[in-house]
Amino acid sequence: MAKRIAVLVSGGGTNLQALIDAQGRGELVNGELAAVLSSSPEAYALERAKRAGIPGYVLPRGDARAVTAALVERLRELDIDLVVMAGFMTIVTEELFQAYPNAVLNIHPSLIPSFCGVGCYGLHVHEKALAYGVKVSGATVHFVTEECDAGPIVLQRAAEVLPDDTPETLQRRIMEQCEWKLLPQAVSLFCQDRLKVEGRTVRILNAE
Ligand code: GAR
Repeated sequence: MAKRIAVLVSGGGTNLQALIDAQGRGELVNGELAAVLSSSPEAYALERAKRAGIPGYVLPRGDARAVTAALVERLRELDIDLVVMAGFMTIVTEELFQAYPNAVLNIHPSLIPSFCGVGCYGLHVHEKALAYGVKVSGATVHFVTEECDAGPIVLQRAAEVLPDDTPETLQRRIMEQCEWKLLPQAVSLFCQDRLKVEGRTVRILNAE
């Protein structure tokens, strides 16, 4: 049976769109986008979900523990198998990972372990990469664990940093060249049961 996927969002939702488009092309093998849950009622991602006919929900505001409890309850009601954080900017507590062990994926816009951790999200990541002067950056899809941005890495892809980059131009290049490709790929691998977590390492199994 197809795995039911919930996508957690907070903003524009271009990574959600990449998943919607991949599903349209039949590239989310054995996966079905079943729900979009947003931390904000204003997130444009909700509009993208609506247009794609995917049910959208707004999470209640509150402290991290209360938000996580509401989130887990909703995920269970919806019979979700895989949780995907796609630009989800809200802190959650360990109850989520206990309810969904090795079944929460996140996309981060750098090559972890560079430019990640608490407070390092969105455009800040690219500001830090430019300030450091790196020549390549990229994106990482990883399993989410209790430690911020430190769970087992599923896929990574690099993109060049160019001399005249601004945080915005670098963000766009990393989205286009890395994020929008990696996230659907990782989700599809998960849904085919092809990701095997061995300690910090994720082994990618061949298709049957
Ligand atoms: C993406 O670049 C994503 O990697 C990043 O926020 C952006 C969301 O864009 N996530 C993080 O920084 C998480 N630490 P989107 O809403 O257009 O997908």
